[in-house]
This record gives sequence, structure tokens and C-alpha cells, in this order.
Amino acid sequence: MTDDDRILIRRAGPLRGEVTIPGAKNSVLKLMAATLLADGEFTLTNVPDIADVGIMAELLAAIGVESRFEGHGRLTMVNRGGIRPVAPYELVERIRASINVLGPLLGRFGKVSLSLPGGDDFGSRPIDMHLKGLEAMGATFELRHGVVEATADRLHGADITLEFPSVGATENILTAAVHAKGATVIDNAAREPEISDLCHFLVAMGAHIEGIGTSTLRIEGVEPGELHATQHAVVPDRIQAATYLAAVAVSGGEVVLRGARGDHMDMLLRRFHDMGLTVTAMGAGADASLAVWAQGRLRSIDVATLPYPGIATDYKPLIVTMLSVADGVGIVTENLYPGRFRYVEELQRLGADIRADGHHAVVRGVPQLSGAPVKAPDIRAGAALVVAGLAAEGETSVAGVHHIDRGYDDLVGRLAALGADIERVTPGRASA
Ligand code: UD1
Repeated sequence: MTDDDRILIRRAGPLRGEVTIPGAKNSVLKLMAATLLADGEFTLTNVPDIADVGIMAELLAAIGVESRFEGHGRLTMVNRGGIRPVAPYELVERIRASINVLGPLLGRFGKVSLSLPGGDDFGSRPIDMHLKGLEAMGATFELRHGVVEATADRLHGADITLEFPSVGATENILTAAVHAKGATVIDNAAREPEISDLCHFLVAMGAHIEGIGTSTLRIEGVEPGELHATQHAVVPDRIQAATYLAAVAVSGGEVVLRGARGDHMDMLLRRFHDMGLTVTAMGAGADASLAVWAQGRLRSIDVATLPYPGIATDYKPLIVTMLSVADGVGIVTENLYPGRFRYVEELQRLGADIRADGHHAVVRGVPQLSGAPVKAPDIRAGAALVVAGLAAEGETSVAGVHHIDRGYDDLVGRLAALGADIERVTPGRASA
């Protein structure tokens, strides 16, 4: 694998079979950061095999927690207590979720030096709400040479109302509050399934949290040292699940998504239904799955992204791709990140008729896309371009595959197993 790898896709008709949905990137990275909260050996299962897990493991190793991949989605993490609360720039700039070490380190050790985070480059992603919430709990921050120096004697509980249900701010305040003196209430908290997953993990470690899954979280702090290591299965990835739904939507076919949680994708499934996709949820919890069936051309709809339980911004490139080949005109409104339409130019190279301006994109469906070389600008847009390739006649070649590797566990292998004509090639090497 190199940074020059490409994914080649040719249209192959209906997809059929079963695909297992791996654990969620946006949960596992936060669970890994939360292992800073207690000494001992943690075991995470259903861990996706993605690059960001490796980067997070490196960051945590630099701070003092060792990770060991055991295979079959099993990750053991050992916190021996020798923590150095410094998150170095070389690692932080590679991954947005590195900001999640702030809450645990500040809550438990009262001190952190954190370089400002990187990750996907889609517009500015400030952390003012994280800092304001932690300040209300007694922390002080100083920004020096791109490094946030955070200190606190012992955090105390506080009533915090977020201006916006920020995922990251909710997580950092939550993971700081578990060790604060007294009760913290987070109002207008984010309600994403990955936040609930983190709450369940913290509760299994001995934390006291009420209101899990709602927009008001109440955390009663425990003394540092009272939390303990635990085992936990990572919640399935609703964005990867949506990617396979989109793949079937543009290719036709009949596929079962093992592990996919319909109850975490309710709004999206309703809108997919409006587009003409038949999706049936089966089983519950660890036995959940989705069966998807698609035939003929999709219908256009209008969609707006919103915090959970609304349509996630991370689904949007997939939806725009589906609308590109649907019957009619769809308007997509982005309410979270202004700059998040960069992949539109790439879809236009494939013949999509899209006009994007500020927060809106108008997508006029065309009967068929036509294959071309394109480049993935970020994780989700990269996967959407692969899906677009399934709907394009001729060959589509997607570059920037390292972005897709950050969040997708063997997208190529999984789609190939469903009958897609897709392969990954490394320049200078014969294709597999
Ligand atoms: C997480 C996800 C990302 C997803 C996003 C929204 C991870 C690693 N990433 O990102 O994939 O797209 O949720 O569902 O889990 N904001 C501020 N100030 C802050 C914090 C956020 O203005 O202090 C703004 C952001 O710029 C953005 C919006 O709030 O416009 C949402 O951000 P947030 O929910 O915090 O997203 P992330 O946690 O960064």
C-alpha cells in the first residue's frame, strides 16, 4: 500500500450477498482516548481495521497507553499509570479525534499540553465549546505557539448548556466530568449513537451517568482511582452501513448488512425509502441487520443535514451521489460545515449535474455517470466517489485512497464480495 494507490471501478450490475458492518470509527477513537481515565487492561471488540485506529494507538502510546491488535477486531489497551499528558503535534495534526484526550487527561491529571488538532480538512473546526465547557468546570487554558496548555486543580461539576450539540465538545466535557467533584449537567448535548456508546463504556468503568441517549446528560463525578478497566464491543458504524446501502441503491440488487443498526439510522432510512429503496430492519442489538433491495432508478428528494437524530453530515456525499443518478432534482442543504461540498467537482468530472453554493447543492439527476479519474478529498467523499464509480459506465479510478483507509475497513474487498467490479492497484505492481 502506498499513497499513490488507486481504486478502479467498473459498473457490474446488481450487488448480491451479505456484508458485515464493522465498528464505528467515530466511536472507537473516543473509547480509546477514554482508556486514559483508569489503570488496567481494556479490551475493545468489533474494532474496525482502519488507519485512524493505528494513529490513535500511536498518540496514546506517546502519552503512555499501549495498544495491542489481537486480530478479529480485538484491541487490548494497557494503561499502567505512567501517563505523560502531552499530545505532540506530529500525531495530533493527523487526526481530529486527538482532541478527545483533553477531557480524560484534564479530569484525571489536571494538566494537558495539546497541539491544536487536524483531521479532515473541511472548513474551520473550532474547539471553543470544548474549552468553554471545561472552563466552567474550573480549567484554565493558554494558547502558546499552537499548543493549548490546560490546567486545573480538581475540576468541579457545573451546569453547561452547549450553544450547539457538538459531538466533540459533549465527549470532552463528559470524559472530564466523570472525575469532577460533584455533578455536571450537559444540556443540548449531542445524542449521536457514538456518544451513547462512550457513555455505556464509561458506566462499565464505574462512572455515574444519567440521561444516556438524551440531550441532557447528568454526570456525578467519582474520585480519581475509582474507575476501572473494562471490556466493550464498539457500536456498528452507521456511516459505513450507509455506504453499502448507497452502493446497492445505485447498482440495484439485494444485500443483507449484518450488524447494521436500523434504530441508529432511522431518519436516513426514511429518506432512502422516499427515494425508492426498500430497507428492512431485522433483529436487535448485537443481532441487528438490515436487508436492502433496489431496482430501477431512484427518485430525487430534498435533504438537510442536522445533528442526530437528523441526517448526519457524514452521509451527505453518499446522498449527493445517489441524487446524481436519480430521477428529478434534489436540493441538499448543509447545516454543519460550510466548506463541505469540495467533492462536487469530482462528481462533476463523472458527469454529475450539480450546482453547489455555500450551504446548498442543487443536484439534477442524469441517467448515467461516465467513468473518469477522480481524487478523494476526505474519508466520506472518497467512499462516495467509489459508489459513484459503481454507477458510471466505463472505468472510474479513485486516487487519494489513504483518505478512505482512515475510516473504511476493506471497502474494496467488501464490495467485491458483493459482486462489484472493483480492485485496488498500487503503481508499479501488478494488480491483484
Ligand atoms: C464529529 C465527527 C464528524 C462529524 C461531526 C458532526 C468524529 C471524529 N468526527 O466531528 O465525522 O461530521 O461530528 O456529526 O467523531 N463547533 C464549533 N465549536 C466547537 C465545536 C464544534 O463551532 O467547539 C462547530 C463545528 O465547526 C461544526 C459543528 O460545530 O460546524 C459540529 O461540530 P462537532 O459536532 O463538534 O463535530 P466533531 O466532533 O468535530
